[in-house]
Amino acid sequence: MAAYEYETHDYDVVVIGAGGAGLRATLGMSEQGLRTACVTKVFPTRSHTVAAQGGIAASLGNMGPDSWQWHMYDTVKGSDWLGDTDAMEYLAREAPKAVYELEHYGVPFSRTEDGTIYQRPFGGHTTEFGEGPPVQRTCAAADRTGHAILHTLYGQSLKNNAEFYIEYFAIDLIMSDDGVCQGVVCWKLDDGTMHVFNAKTVVLATGGYGRAYFSATSAHTCTGDGGGMVARAGLALQDMEFVQFHPTGIFGSGCLITEGARGEGGFLSNSEDERFMERYAPNYKDLAPRDYVSRCMTMEIREGRGVGTDSDHIYLNLSHLQPEALAERLPGISESAKIFAGVDVTKEPIPVLPTVHYNMGGIPTNYWGEVLNPTAKNPNAIVPGLMAVGEAGCASVHGANRLGSNSLIDLVVFGRAAAIRAGKTVNRKLAPAALNTKAVEKAFERFDGLRYAKGAVATSDLRLEMQKTMQADAAVFRTSETLADGVEKMTVIAKKMNDIKVTDRSLIWNSDLMETLELSNLMPNALATIVGAEARKESRGAHAHEDFSDRDDVNWRVHTISHVDFASVSLSSRPVITEPLTAEEDGGISMDTIAPKIRTF
Ligand code: FUM
Repeated sequence: MAAYEYETHDYDVVVIGAGGAGLRATLGMSEQGLRTACVTKVFPTRSHTVAAQGGIAASLGNMGPDSWQWHMYDTVKGSDWLGDTDAMEYLAREAPKAVYELEHYGVPFSRTEDGTIYQRPFGGHTTEFGEGPPVQRTCAAADRTGHAILHTLYGQSLKNNAEFYIEYFAIDLIMSDDGVCQGVVCWKLDDGTMHVFNAKTVVLATGGYGRAYFSATSAHTCTGDGGGMVARAGLALQDMEFVQFHPTGIFGSGCLITEGARGEGGFLSNSEDERFMERYAPNYKDLAPRDYVSRCMTMEIREGRGVGTDSDHIYLNLSHLQPEALAERLPGISESAKIFAGVDVTKEPIPVLPTVHYNMGGIPTNYWGEVLNPTAKNPNAIVPGLMAVGEAGCASVHGANRLGSNSLIDLVVFGRAAAIRAGKTVNRKLAPAALNTKAVEKAFERFDGLRYAKGAVATSDLRLEMQKTMQADAAVFRTSETLADGVEKMTVIAKKMNDIKVTDRSLIWNSDLMETLELSNLMPNALATIVGAEARKESRGAHAHEDFSDRDDVNWRVHTISHVDFASVSLSSRPVITEPLTAEEDGGISMDTIAPKIRTF
């Protein structure tokens, strides 16, 4: 093995990732005077949050009556009763505070006539515990909400003296022999130097792993780096079988067309010009939750009512909306439709297809962002020194299906919660721990092994094989047969990591090596997804199993826990937390209201 010299950096907190969750955590930590570093593989404002369009959910009640209890109820129902109730309450209750903080930090939200934050309707957000009409709960900055949030949080973090390590790739966590996270080993992409970050707390804010699939709205950087590091550290992943398909990815490119388009009055139609969602969801129509709309679209296509030459997609219609409204509320997607589909939205429908968009599963945490190491004796035991927030984490507020605009609020509520927690738990006076040098060496050994890999399989070929398998076998609808086939294929594919070929041995801007490291992160995420999906013998949220079409709360209202060891996955489970934080007599939601029932729309 080549010898790697490295520079050591000591911090109270190291945040890995600079998307919405990473930046909100970084800002919150540094505001409290914790010495905070944010390590990121892309420039902060290029993180995938920049692509978030439609908005951020919070019960501000600017457009009509709303309450955090209604928001919580919708989130519970949206999760198909798999979310952890304490975390879902925390999300809904803290959301207004978190959004007003963003406003005060400087996020340029769109405004109502009287100057309050503009809110639009989004799927599954209702009033009166699902019995009332839809609510306008999604706070928007036109259709570029993520962009606005990211720029504001980056500026505020700099103002609060957070230190940024930009274009550094995190290779592996440093775990002590007794299971404490001590830091992370990184590679600086532009000059090839190596860096070891010694931290009292590491926060994984590395985003999702959408790129395990062939067609995704996710950026090419969404490679599940946090999940990969956690799996290699022998720690758990949770509920990985729940992968969200966004109903409206542009057919062909997969580029996102916000649900806000339907929130502003857009609708889906089939080859018979039928507004078919009215048939499937008489109450919610086009604003039913995403898992349901994606399934309905797939059924329309399967039954021969798809549009286009091959009847293989669906139309999203916006041309009946006022051009001024499109220009004011949906300028970004009007431009994307032109560039990626050649469509003028004021005149023609946009061709769309359900496209992989979000991972409900991830690194299990409590609602403070502390990573869990579930054991039979203590399902909620924590890993000292390690936190995970945002799409990388699984708190779990989205359960089996996330509501649109609950992602941006998840980022800021839990980024903020992690900072609040670290402010109480991190001892600023403590000297840096003596690092586990064996763990540092092991990270370099793995890096070196990939750098000099002389196998027969090119990284891009193996990645494509994985993506096509996941797309075909862990799709919107799944069957016992496709899933068993998928597990078999993915096991063979994962083993091919031992036969990988890297041709560039250099250390400076070596995209061949970086993509190989990313593939080594995607692989355990993908494997856990398909193995978890094969094991779950029910349908729930985004997991639509055609051989087990009902939800089975008796046997399956549990979180799937997976431990991935190279090409094999072992599964266990963790109970769902069913108790809210606030008792009914103190203003909380009643247990009866949130008891499981059939999800109708
Ligand atoms: O449709 C969208 O604008 C996406 C929002 C989300 O995933 O929350």
